[in-house]
Amino acid sequence: MKGIILAGGTGSRLFPATLATSKQLLPVYDKPMIYYPLSVLMAGGIRDILVISSPADLPAFRRLLGDGTRLGLRISYAEQDRPRGLADAFRVGRDFIGGDPVALILGDNMFHGEGLGQMLARAITLASKGAVVFPYRVANPQHYGVVELDEQFHAVGIEEKPEHPKSNWAVTGLYFYDNQVVELAAGLKPSKRGELEITDLNNLYIAKGQLFAMPLSRGFAWMDAGTEEALLQASQYVAAIEARQGLKIACIEEEAWRMGFIDTDQLAVLGQSLAASAYGQYLLALAQRHKNIRN
Ligand code: DAU
Repeated sequence: MKGIILAGGTGSRLFPATLATSKQLLPVYDKPMIYYPLSVLMAGGIRDILVISSPADLPAFRRLLGDGTRLGLRISYAEQDRPRGLADAFRVGRDFIGGDPVALILGDNMFHGEGLGQMLARAITLASKGAVVFPYRVANPQHYGVVELDEQFHAVGIEEKPEHPKSNWAVTGLYFYDNQVVELAAGLKPSKRGELEITDLNNLYIAKGQLFAMPLSRGFAWMDAGTEEALLQASQYVAAIEARQGLKIACIEEEAWRMGFIDTDQLAVLGQSLAASAYGQYLLALAQRHKNIRN
């Protein structure tokens, strides 16, 4: 399974904060926003990852993440010359995807909850037969893609930002697809707002009887950081949990280590390179604790 992080767009709802930088590079508390979706793909065991962004912002993502080797990943990059819609990711990423199944995650989406890794493993299995989405109950469904579910939680249809939503289930910004997605996305036409809609793509899978919905329980937190209010709330959420537990959310170096992509010595080297910050000290302490247990 390959993974794509879509981290383009203009971030215009956050102007002037995003005039000179990408939204997905803004900090959510103690780390750049893109660490959150990246850590989700990593928790699913996905190591071959394409980051898509605008020509102006792509160099900064390269500076931040490099080729991924230090995390035991293979990270590559592709330009989206203008925001043509979420489903454009499968056109831009066509060569990268090749003949494989693929997960797409939006660069401003954050997921946090118990059992994420197991859920992603189930989704990867299901995606061999079609597509998987992760609905989440929200108070304001009209701002999202909204999925209508029957009693068995099968998807009946999805509407993009409906005025009169048929349910409270928002489609979150994480999607798994089999390789059909490449051809299906190639055949899409722009919507009324001029975008290649992920919702149209997902409805094609529903028409084939091949879209699986895995609703996220209320014990999960799902946030997108599209407005200043949402960004602040996300930072406050992360700060509160991290302070309480003394453990970090979406710490990509820790995730790489826990997943076995890197060993304890490599973790210590990564911590050393960031040692001037509390984040770096956290990594060093993690590596040290583990060495003490081992020795
Ligand atoms: O967050 C989940 C929602 O994401 C879904 O419920 C909706 O069905 C889906 O359409 C999408 O809605 P948004 O209105 O949030 O999409 P937005 O246009 O804000 O794009 C989401 C992110 O993707 C944003 O951080 C910018 C990036 N993006 C967007 C477009 C259209 C790109 O990188 N390229 C693009 O062409």
